[in-house]
Amino acid sequence: MGTSSSSSSSSSLDYGVKFGLFTDSHHANGEPPVANRYYDDSAQKLTDAINNHFNVENLDFVVELGDYIEDVNLATDQINLAAFDAIYSTCTSPIKYVFGNHELVNLTKSQFKIVTGMPSNYYSFNIGTHPLECHFVILDCMHRSDGSDAEAGNFSVNDLWISDTEKTWLINDLQANSDKPTYVFCHFLFSASVPSNRRVQNYLEMQGIFTSFNQVQAVFSGHWHQDFYEQVGGVHYIAMDALVDYPYPDNTYSIIEVDPDLNITITGIGGHQTSYLLDGRSIGSSSSSSHSSEYSSSSSSSSVINSDSHTLPFSLKIYRERTPIINDIEFSSVIRRKFDVGVYGDNSNTLKDAVGDVGKYKYSNSIPNKLTDLPSGFKELYKESS
Ligand SMILES: [Fe+2]
Repeated sequence: MGTSSSSSSSSSLDYGVKFGLFTDSHHANGEPPVANRYYDDSAQKLTDAINNHFNVENLDFVVELGDYIEDVNLATDQINLAAFDAIYSTCTSPIKYVFGNHELVNLTKSQFKIVTGMPSNYYSFNIGTHPLECHFVILDCMHRSDGSDAEAGNFSVNDLWISDTEKTWLINDLQANSDKPTYVFCHFLFSASVPSNRRVQNYLEMQGIFTSFNQVQAVFSGHWHQDFYEQVGGVHYIAMDALVDYPYPDNTYSIIEVDPDLNITITGIGGHQTSYLLDGRSIGSSSSSSHSSEYSSSSSSSSVINSDSHTLPFSLKIYRERTPIINDIEFSSVIRRKFDVGVYGDNSNTLKDAVGDVGKYKYSNSIPNKLTDLPSGFKELYKESS
C-alpha cells in the first residue's frame, strides 16, 4: 500500500463522465445529535443515496470527501468504520475515499486504509475515452507543517498542509496528464474566504498550482458543511453540503456530470445542496497539446447558475444527445437551477413566481419527459433567462 498511485478505466457513458458525491457523513452508530449533526442517521442516509441514485444512475464512480465517520474512541471508531464501509461497499460503481480529519482523530491512515481498501493517501485516476478522458486527483490535506502525517490525534485543524512530497507528486501527475480535463478532491478548502481551520495552510500556493495547469477545472471540498462557491484563477472551488447535517429522512448528496464541452453539472439531491452549471476552461492554449482544440469550451468565462447575472449559462444542448431527452433527476436539476436564479437574480420576483408554478412538478408523478412538455411557467422562465 503506497502513498500515491494512478489508475485508468473507460467511462460507461457515451456523452461524458458522471459520478456521485457525498461528504462529511460523520457516521457514529447510536450517538445522539449534537447541534445540527445527526450522526446516527448517516447510515440510513447513505443507504438511501445508494438505493435511490448511486446504484440507479449510470455512474463512473462515487466519491466521499472525508469525515466519513465521527470520532468517538478508537474501539468504537473501528466498529463504526467497518459498519459504514459495508454500506458504502454496496455501491455497484467504483468507490473512492478522501481523508478527513475526524476519521484520523483516533485512527492512523493505515488503519483506515486496511478497513476500506483505500489504495493510497493521495492518488489519481482517469475515466472516459478520447476525446473526453477526464483526470481525477484525490489529495490528502492531513499533513503537519513538517510534512509528517496528521493522524491518530497528533494534529490541530488550524495547522494542516499539503506536504512538499505530495506537491511534487501532484505537479508530476498534472504534467503527465496535461491533455485531460482535471478535477480535484480534497477534504479541506483552498480559500481566503473561510477561517484558518477550514483550509489548508498553503492554500495560496496550491491555488497557484491549480491555475497554472490549465487543464484543472474544479476543486471539490467538504469540511465546510455548507454550500460554498468561488472562482479563483479560472478554477471553480466548490465545497459540498454535509450529509450529517439534517435529520433523516432529509438527505444531501450530489450527482455530477462533465459533458463533452466541459460543462460541469452539479445536481444537488435532497433540496439542500445548491445545483450548479459551471463552464469549463480551455485546455492547452499555451501548451503543445495536440488535443486542445477538442476540449475548447463554449465560453472562456466561467459562471455559476446562482450568480446575479442575467445571462443564464444553461444550454439545452447538454440534453440533446440523451435518451430520454430529460429524465426525473435532470428535470429536478433544471428546476433547482432556475430556482437559484430566482432567489439570487435581480428580477427575482418574476422568476420566483415562474418557478412556483412549476415547482410542484418536482415531486409529482406527472413529470414531463421532454423539454417541450414543460409547463408554461417554466418556458417563460427559460425565455426570460436566456
Ligand atoms: Fe472535517
